[in-house]
Amino acid sequence: MHLLYAFFILLSLSNGFNPNCPGRCNCDSLWSAQCYRLTEVPSSIPSTIKRLYISHRKIHHLQVTMPCSTQIVALEDSILLASGTESVENDTFKTLSTLKTLELWKNNALPASLEVLKLNDNSINVLHGSDFEGLKKLKILKLKNNLISSLSPSTFSSLVSLQSLMLDGNNVEAIAGPLILPHLTHMSLENNKHLENLSHLYLSENLLSSINGAQFLTNLTALELSQNQLQILPFRLPVKLQKLDCSNNLIQRVTAQDFQDLQDLKHLILDNNIASFFEAGALQRCSQLSNLALEQNLLLSIPLRLPGTLTRLDLKGNVIQNIAERELKDLKQLHVLNLRNNKISALDLKALEGLPHLRHLYLDGNPWNCTCSLLKVREVLMAKGTDVRGGQCAAPTEQHGESWMSSKKIMRQCEHHFHLTEKSKETKKKSKPEDPSSIRINMDDG
Ligand SMILES: *[C@@H]1O[C@H](CO)[C@@H](O)[C@H](O)[C@H]1NC(C)=O
Ligand SMILES: *[C@@H]1O[C@H](CO)[C@@H](O)[C@H](O)[C@H]1NC(C)=O
Ligand SMILES: *[C@@H]1O[C@H](CO)[C@@H](O)[C@H](O)[C@H]1NC(C)=O
Ligand SMILES: *[C@@H]1O[C@H](CO)[C@@H](O)[C@H](O)[C@H]1NC(C)=O
Repeated sequence: MHLLYAFFILLSLSNGFNPNCPGRCNCDSLWSAQCYRLTEVPSSIPSTIKRLYISHRKIHHLQVTMPCSTQIVALEDSILLASGTESVENDTFKTLSTLKTLELWKNNALPASLEVLKLNDNSINVLHGSDFEGLKKLKILKLKNNLISSLSPSTFSSLVSLQSLMLDGNNVEAIAGPLILPHLTHMSLENNKHLENLSHLYLSENLLSSINGAQFLTNLTALELSQNQLQILPFRLPVKLQKLDCSNNLIQRVTAQDFQDLQDLKHLILDNNIASFFEAGALQRCSQLSNLALEQNLLLSIPLRLPGTLTRLDLKGNVIQNIAERELKDLKQLHVLNLRNNKISALDLKALEGLPHLRHLYLDGNPWNCTCSLLKVREVLMAKGTDVRGGQCAAPTEQHGESWMSSKKIMRQCEHHFHLTEKSKETKKKSKPEDPSSIRINMDDG
């Protein structure tokens, strides 16, 4: 008897509770409907329904046809779709102005062939990791004017063909980690009022050729734009920026205008570009800059008037031929100077002597002319506690291929040379006793 009673209650709940429940649907309350074995979204969903679950493999064509004023205005929770959907009408979701969660259920919820998905003007506030799963052909994703507050890389990770991502008019305040979208050429985030608190923006490994409007990200401290197609540095960067990574782009010029407001900048990474022009004093306003990375560019000389706060200067793989005293004289904090793989053949002792904190000097991969004065520079620097990595001699011919840091042959020849110079100094200065730390050749080195 009890069992029968329970059965009746179940029956009435599943069927008759909501008299307007569409066919093939269960309306277990006034607000919720579950529909099965449909081939399209039912055309007469009661206006009280807030939660609509549709699950079947045979929906071919998804279109919510009725105007928003008359039907399902209240729908706010989720739409659950099963696999097999073949097309989604462009404005399907547009009418659902109160829709908060779009749960596109499991793989193939949307057709794998979909190229354009417009979800503008809804009330979507969460994007799930699985929402866009399998949409490998999707090129355009429009999510303007929703309520999305955070973006996570996993949400977009399957969108390998995405070219355009529009997120204007949301509440985006956090982008959790790098968005790696290898074909992205356009991304817009205008009018995201909460973006004022965004501190890190990762847009590496896309195809971006320009960045506009970054100045509105007033609290941005780190901007990562590595591996894009930038030909110029982003225009008007946010003033609180501390780290800018534009490595692996196509930037040709670095000018003072690019950096005029960036007084907090500490790390500037421009490795692997094609910069051949670096304006003198371009970074003078960056009075906190400590790390400047310019590896693999086309610079012919060390940029002039770099900020004196630099502790690390990386110029590996450029086409620098000479080091001049005026280029380095202000860098009193410099700890690491990397000049590997350039075209330098000689060193000016005066240029390097003026760097009181230099600890590491990388010089290998240059076509050294192994004269005794080159060796002398090395001795002076080592005596000051700088670790010098040398490389091989390209000249003179008899020293070709010898390591100028450790070749005993060169040292033996130069020992003679140094003795001579010491002697001539002594004869000039006469009475002054020899300073033992001045020039001593260490034969055991290397
Ligand atoms: C959907 O949008 C695309 C791109 O905007 C357009 O080419 C296509 O004709 C639209 N389809 C329909 C059915 O409106
Ligand atoms: C931004 O952060 C400040 C300070 O933490 C907070 O008071 C403010 O509400 C935040 N703004 C937004 C739009 O979240
Ligand atoms: C962001 O910047 C605004 C000023 O533009 C400031 O009032 C706010 O406190 C900042 N928020 C944080 C989290 O620093
Ligand atoms: C190496 O230096 C010596 C002495 O300064 C100079 O005479 C010679 O031409 C230089 N060789 C090369 C290849 O630059």
